[in-house]
Amino acid sequence: MTANSNWLAEVIRSRRSVRHFRREPVSHATIEALMEAARWAPSAHNAQPWRFVVLEDQQRRRDLAHAMASRFQTDLQADGAPEGEALARAARAEARLSEAPAVILACLTVQDAQVYPDAQRAAAEHAMAVQSTALAVENLLLTAHQAGLGACWLCSPLFCPEIVVRELDLPPKWEPQAFILLGIPERAPTAPERRPLADILVWR
Ligand SMILES: Cc1cc2nc3c(=O)[nH]c(=O)nc-3n(C[C@H](O)[C@H](O)[C@H](O)COP(=O)(O)O)c2cc1C
Repeated sequence: MTANSNWLAEVIRSRRSVRHFRREPVSHATIEALMEAARWAPSAHNAQPWRFVVLEDQQRRRDLAHAMASRFQTDLQADGAPEGEALARAARAEARLSEAPAVILACLTVQDAQVYPDAQRAAAEHAMAVQSTALAVENLLLTAHQAGLGACWLCSPLFCPEIVVRELDLPPKWEPQAFILLGIPERAPTAPERRPLADILVWR
């Protein structure tokens, strides 16, 4: 291991999901630097299936957060959650998305993917697009951390992609995958445990 690889290991190891931010905005230049890191991720067939949307228009972001929160509340109540609890959880989700200093939506598209006649290979091709997009987001997360920014991946777009596509007027083939919240961390986040290597690794 060289000094450089130790530096990389430290960036990887010290990155944490940050969910509370100071109010300062994140500049366009910073967001572009994160996007630049994202686009150098590896991807299946080098198809680069990722697409990103910076949620710049505050009113549009609030409308999106509100529409998603309404759907979240409906889903929670359909699952049997009491109305008050569903309302509180939906309100928290709405505030989180509305108030983060910057939000990037990560999408994928399979428009350049191989087309297969059978469901199994089509599913594998889609999985590769998901995997490739996740790698691009990891590049983004690590670069944000190294730049002193906090970030958190939110999975909520997966649960109501049609609302996200409609509210942001996205091309119909863009599949929303995740929001990335960004900002200067309000406080140092705690480090969740990791499973020990022995639990996740086998040698064959
Ligand atoms: C696919 C994926 C989905 C996630 N969804 C959410 C989410 O919806 N809300 C949230 O607060 N954190 C979410 N996270 C962040 C995880 O909770 C976090 O990475 C995990 O608890 C480990 O903590 P760390 O990132 O600080 O190491 C998600 C992370 C990933 C990779």
